[in-house]
Amino acid sequence: MYLDPEDERILQGEFGETRQKMLEILTALGKVFGAEKIIPIKSAQVSGASYKTIGEWGLRWLESLQAKVVVPTVLNPIGMPRDHWEELGISREFAEKQQAIIEAYRRLGVKMECTCTPYYLQLTQYGDHLAWAESSAVVYANSVIGARTNREGGPGALAAAIIGKTPEYGLHLLANRRPQIAVTIDGLYSPKQLKDIYGAIGYLAGKQVGNRIPIFSGIRARRDDLKALGAAMAATGAVGLFHVEGLTPEARIFKFGSAGLEEIIIEQSEIAALFREMEVDVVAIGCPHCSPTELEEIARLLEGKTVKKPLFIFSSQQVLRENRKTAEKIARSGARIVPDTCMVVSPFMERYRAIMVDSGKALAYVPDMCGAMARIGTREECIRTAVG
Ligand code: F3S
Repeated sequence: MYLDPEDERILQGEFGETRQKMLEILTALGKVFGAEKIIPIKSAQVSGASYKTIGEWGLRWLESLQAKVVVPTVLNPIGMPRDHWEELGISREFAEKQQAIIEAYRRLGVKMECTCTPYYLQLTQYGDHLAWAESSAVVYANSVIGARTNREGGPGALAAAIIGKTPEYGLHLLANRRPQIAVTIDGLYSPKQLKDIYGAIGYLAGKQVGNRIPIFSGIRARRDDLKALGAAMAATGAVGLFHVEGLTPEARIFKFGSAGLEEIIIEQSEIAALFREMEVDVVAIGCPHCSPTELEEIARLLEGKTVKKPLFIFSSQQVLRENRKTAEKIARSGARIVPDTCMVVSPFMERYRAIMVDSGKALAYVPDMCGAMARIGTREECIRTAVG
């Protein structure tokens, strides 16, 4: 694999042991996946930020690193909000470990934004090469923005952030971004009905698509709908990129569209079967973290109402800062807005027995990660359940 003279010096250890080790990670990845060179990236997003997921070993590894990131870098959600964590019943022991992780990342120069929606925080443009780790952010960046990133692991993304480069393989290469399987949705859904079920469609499609690149036809979705669709496909499958004919930015490059590809149909009956009734003790919205538009929709649905069942809304600090009035409207209902963390990576959701979500990704992850049953509903149904 080609390395420029400065990279060679990093590899010889001239710029410290951490940078040397980080470049070794990148060259090892590049060799495994057949990369010819390493290429500059515009930004990084690092997973492995919650003490619940990385534990003591991960914390010690982070504390051992001596370097700074050289591109804008943010974190995936951590295991608790940075402020007022006591109010959620987080133990002091967990909080201290989580704070040590935050401190370790801060020392590395990582920006203290902890979110799975980094595309709301920093400018990410068509054609940018990135090293992002969160699977739902990866699929959004590739599909909706037309940027290019593989599904990085936590160490690979951090290594790329510290070196400022990533091996050029997989989804960084246009030839690997062609549609591989066609997906259509059975049934006569209106755009309004479809809007509420993209998470469920993604949940079902991901299981059949696996790690291939699907192309959808016949849908007109908003960015938030595509976010829900991609996040769910990345969870039940290993989808890193999808196209929508006539909609997503790269669909027009591959002119043959869905013609000649194997086709799968998501049946209306399968979608309906996912929306089963079940008694829940909590409602959680914001997987992936809510956008400004989603916060506005939640505020509108909650207007003049009081929640009777716990309702948690997850979003990033920055989005909440920039939409303070909307957040205040939501909070007036008694709903709890929680930044920095999420229903899956925080231990505070583990006390619940059954969780209602509006997300296909959460539907897939909640049973294993929270030890709770999960029910999916539309956003409107979620709010209705919370207000009783
Ligand atoms: Fe984000 Fe947590 Fe869902 S990281 S995509 S809110 S599982």
